[in-house]
Amino acid sequence: MNAYIGQPISRVDGPAKVSGQAIYPAEFRLGNLAHAAIVGSTMPHGWITGIDAARASRMPGVIAVITHENAMRLPYRDIGKPPPVDPQSGEQLHVLQGPEVLFCGQPVALVVAETQEQARGAARAVTVNYAPGPAQTAMDADRGVQPDEGVVKSGRPGDTQRGDAEAAFRDAAVKIDARFSHEREYHNPMEPHATIAAWDGDRLTLYDKSQWVDNVRMEIAHVFGMEEDRIHVVSPFVGGAFGSALRTWPHVTLAAMAAKHVGRPVRLELTRRELFFAIGYRPRTEQRVRLGADKDGRLTAIIQEALGQTSVYEQYAEITLEPPRKLYSCPNVATHYRLVPMHTNSPCPMRAPGTSTGVMAHEIAMDELAEALGLDPLELRLRNYAERDEDKDLPWSSKELRACYRMAAERFGWPKRQARIGSMRRGESVAGWGMATAFYPANRAPGSAQAVLYANGSVIVRTAASDMGPGTYTAMTQLAADALGVPLENIDFELGDTDMPEAPVHGGSITLASVGNAVVAACEALRSKLAGLAGKGGVKDGVQGLIDVLAARGMQSIEAEGKAKPGDETKRFASAAFGAVFAEVLVDPLLGTVRVPRIVGAYDIGRVINPKIAHSQCIGGMVGGLGMALLEQGEWDARLGRVMNANLAEYLVPVNADIQELEALFVPNDDRTFNPLGSKGVAEIALTGVAPAIANAVYHAIGRRIRDLPITPEKLLLA
Ligand code: MOS
Repeated sequence: MNAYIGQPISRVDGPAKVSGQAIYPAEFRLGNLAHAAIVGSTMPHGWITGIDAARASRMPGVIAVITHENAMRLPYRDIGKPPPVDPQSGEQLHVLQGPEVLFCGQPVALVVAETQEQARGAARAVTVNYAPGPAQTAMDADRGVQPDEGVVKSGRPGDTQRGDAEAAFRDAAVKIDARFSHEREYHNPMEPHATIAAWDGDRLTLYDKSQWVDNVRMEIAHVFGMEEDRIHVVSPFVGGAFGSALRTWPHVTLAAMAAKHVGRPVRLELTRRELFFAIGYRPRTEQRVRLGADKDGRLTAIIQEALGQTSVYEQYAEITLEPPRKLYSCPNVATHYRLVPMHTNSPCPMRAPGTSTGVMAHEIAMDELAEALGLDPLELRLRNYAERDEDKDLPWSSKELRACYRMAAERFGWPKRQARIGSMRRGESVAGWGMATAFYPANRAPGSAQAVLYANGSVIVRTAASDMGPGTYTAMTQLAADALGVPLENIDFELGDTDMPEAPVHGGSITLASVGNAVVAACEALRSKLAGLAGKGGVKDGVQGLIDVLAARGMQSIEAEGKAKPGDETKRFASAAFGAVFAEVLVDPLLGTVRVPRIVGAYDIGRVINPKIAHSQCIGGMVGGLGMALLEQGEWDARLGRVMNANLAEYLVPVNADIQELEALFVPNDDRTFNPLGSKGVAEIALTGVAPAIANAVYHAIGRRIRDLPITPEKLLLA
């Protein structure tokens, strides 16, 4: 029965959010709560020679000043578990454990006080002296290293080769060789990261902003050398994260240390500025793309190289070079990936990590190739359509990219494009039309869920998943309602708690395909339990039919668990979400300003569970892509070793005034080969393709090829 799947249901958690009843981790009210504030290093590298906390300690409300000299020793026990999110084994920064500092902003002291204001005020009064050390703050290509074996095993290889790409490039009739870069980007979720830590004897409860509560439990168990079952993590709502809450950052450890130190629950909320130093960011990446083609525009060689940033204490690598290996059909492909360790905090996944930036360079280069060949950019993509995943040498579980190109091109009016640069004048401005392919790998991970039916007909379904905003509460409620055949209103969906059945990371756009199948399995298990109880009379339709079975047995409730995991289809098929993005820009050639009147995307995301929420995710991704194209850049000062615009006044994100028409369309598909639900996942696919479509449109408008994002007015005027 499909009463709800496929319907544009409004968010079930919407009313709680807009009425302030949704409680975020920083808002839990615990008795006797103390507040903490971080003192951050002002050096990119060095050793603390002295900390003067005397003045801070005397300030009103101050309970403790914790430094490496008086902090508890943390065991950082190897718990022998498979790697969580990159880097390999949880937090590697041993916070407040010694005098060495490895980046600007690293916590060197923590002030605990009665109020947040007192803690933050006193933190400013702590004086720290350093002996500076040699700091690697420049992104020198000659210091680039191959990722370690463990990182490579997680699918981020340093070098790959199929065919002979160098020879094929040498012999190609038409060649492109271009260099690209994008600046650091910061997630800047509306809700700052925050943790409340409370100890009860040797048991620890963490209220924490997280996309993966089970991982917080695992990492903190590792850091504190505890058994996982002594740690309870609670994170019912997430006010945006975009990858920043996948890992467990040092402030979570600090909150737990502080709570132990003062014997009270402690709340540590990061300031907006601290969000640039205390969590991760999308690393700056420099790329070189070489494309070779024959005279008919068929690719004969692809060589793509990327240089990313990492910290000196961890290796963070991305799948930047997966798109060039998979996006188009080409017999000769080589990719080379290197990392530069720097004295900076570790980068982390952000909005289609790696993929969006690899697609960016590749899709701008494809636009350059189309121009060199005198071909329409869309026609070039069609001539090189990849019928298989040539990287894995597997068929796609499904691929409706041709339909995406067709649907989006038609809706956008692409056939009316005048190919000549600068030919679409609009008064003082010049319009440009550009396009790009969108791509994001589709993955699944094991997940589990529990469903409980009560005698009054209400149902609770729970799993330790997260909902950082994509609509997980809503989509899961729809799946449960349909699987049980009960009204939507009867379902209460709960998530974000380690007491609930285990769930995988809420990242990589895998939640629907992973946890969704577990939710359906739990509801089906519940139904079959009821059928067993009902005997040959069977279970009648609707909620009444279900509770009749309970009533006949005098039962108050019944529960069932469901699990789902990928099978061997991953060995036989490759899976990905696909899309086509078309953008119109209006460039003022005198001022160098770029407006974006419209973006149209068409996506193959498999089966669409909720078109309203899927559309909302896609236009959200487009906004992120517009930010990457035109606005977002952490301005790194290599002399000081820190980002200078650590605030929302100078780090620009798109606001309403930057956004005009955004439209997302979905091509029909139902990928039951990939998973029983048929959905591939939405989210990150929508960020990919947007920045190159805009960059290509800017070129079409005024003939300036900006390969270093963001495309700011000064770059356009000086190009
Ligand atoms: Mo996403 S960057 O996998 O949260």
